[in-house]
Amino acid sequence: MAVGLDFGTTNSSIALAGPNGVQIANFASSGGVTEAFRSLLYLHRIRESGRSAIKSWSGPAGIDEYLNSDEKGRLVQSLKSFLTSRSLQTTEVFGRRFKLEELIARILADIRAGAERQFGPTATHVVVGRPVRFVGAESDADDEYALGRLKEALLIAGFREVRFEYEPVGAAYHYESTLDHDELVMIGDFGGGTSDFSLLRVGPSLRRSGVTRQVIGNEGVGIAGDSFDARIIRHLVSPALGAGSELESGGKRLPVPNWVYFKLERWHHLSFLKSAETISMLKSVAGQALEPKKIEALLYLIQHDLGYQLHRAVQRAKIALSNVDRTRLHFSDGEAEIDEELTRADFESWIQEELTAIENHVDELLSKTGTHPADVDVVFLTGGSSFVPAVRRIFESRFGHHKIRTCDEFTSVARGLALRALELR
Ligand SMILES: Nc1ncnc2c1ncn2[C@@H]1O[C@H](COP(=O)(O)OP(=O)(O)OP(=O)(O)O)[C@@H](O)[C@H]1O
Ligand SMILES: [Mg+2]
Repeated sequence: MAVGLDFGTTNSSIALAGPNGVQIANFASSGGVTEAFRSLLYLHRIRESGRSAIKSWSGPAGIDEYLNSDEKGRLVQSLKSFLTSRSLQTTEVFGRRFKLEELIARILADIRAGAERQFGPTATHVVVGRPVRFVGAESDADDEYALGRLKEALLIAGFREVRFEYEPVGAAYHYESTLDHDELVMIGDFGGGTSDFSLLRVGPSLRRSGVTRQVIGNEGVGIAGDSFDARIIRHLVSPALGAGSELESGGKRLPVPNWVYFKLERWHHLSFLKSAETISMLKSVAGQALEPKKIEALLYLIQHDLGYQLHRAVQRAKIALSNVDRTRLHFSDGEAEIDEELTRADFESWIQEELTAIENHVDELLSKTGTHPADVDVVFLTGGSSFVPAVRRIFESRFGHHKIRTCDEFTSVARGLALRALELR
């Protein structure tokens, strides 16, 4: 069986390719079935036969379990973004140390189990996607390090024969399956963690000959949807939770510690704020703060592990701005309440630095491969963050509106990786 697995920062999917085409796995959730398995993990302490144990749930089951538990456990998101982090080897959850690889493996094992239920018991051999550049990678050595950890997580999860392929190359195989003629295509895959680009020739004649597509070049940068969210948090959420305010200590006015807000901006760091030291520090800050209500709201959010709800509120606002010019960011839970207007123009000005970095990588791919935009037949944009109008404009301005193609934003990579797996058999 030819299986393709896309372990995404935000969403994962898994597909099977065979003589009758590509099949994508479905996962049950309380809201129906979904092809996009949320790459999150929820851990909670349970009592089992009189003993305390730590149980985990991932994907839609993780969300349901989290929402249904009165006393919240630990919900972690965007774990893929930690793979390059040498300082994060293990983390403590309810008094037990977990290796990062083990946490990721729990998500991957659930995906594998779901796929096996639908495809049969052979989902152990897979082609797995990898970003061109992992989040936080500054060198090829960092990428190799991250890849080694991802491989370890896959093996722990029960996948046995693993081959990696660039995520945008996966998307290219999917795009190719829709073609009746050959093309030089530029792929732009914009996810939660990374933006990845590949330039390659695809089409029926290459598919028929079965030769591995010659990739003309790849580029990538660890900037995507999560970085956009970080800007929304910086400008709208953190100020409502006390960022930039002051406290009074020993007769002096001091700023409240800002490192907490940097962690708040990053989904993969957020749940790690819930440590005894941070909470006691914030309690003492709340006691001295000039605007204590804001710090108390922050404490409430951290203590009640509301990262998921905050994430939902930010995503809702951001996604709305892909279609409308203005919206409200609304988040309300106990002592934490945020209700702010935001416009697409504000959002675009906040993410200017990220957009410029993305543009530079697109231009770098063109220049290092000696490709003129006119040589490129089609630009295929995929991944959830490709819906952001400002991201699309980067390509429209360089290649022209008529060259842009989009489809299957959340499953194109897994579908294409499965086709790649079929070719490799
Ligand atoms: N309509 C939309 N407008 C703007 N952003 C969106 C929209 N829909 C989804 N997103 C964003 O897309 C991102 C998720 O996309 P996707 O599932 O492709 O990422 P991923 O594959 O998990 O991540 P990566 O490929 O970086 O590892 C999230 O940041 C989400 O907020
Ligand atoms: Mg992706």
